[in-house]
Amino acid sequence: MLDGDRPHCVFTGDTLFLGEVGRPDLAVKSGEITKEDLAGWLYDSLRNRLMTLPEDCIVFPGHGAGSPCGKKIADGTYCTIGN
Ligand SMILES: [Fe+2]
Repeated sequence: MLDGDRPHCVFTGDTLFLGEVGRPDLAVKSGEITKEDLAGWLYDSLRNRLMTLPEDCIVFPGHGAGSPCGKKIADGTYCTIGN
């Protein structure tokens, strides 16, 4: 979401959590999408999209601590790109 033309917050789904990134091994479809495909897309999303946002842009992840979608998701419901 934008505040004027500046990114204010981002909903990161299963790509970026608090202190953790998504797991490219969870959505593998045999013969269609490999974990290497997913790891490449994850890297592209993190490096070329999310890491280009301002450090104070608020991150709202799709899951919190305890979800199997990330191995060590930190407690909390939001943080910033800089954190
Ligand atoms: Fe998930």
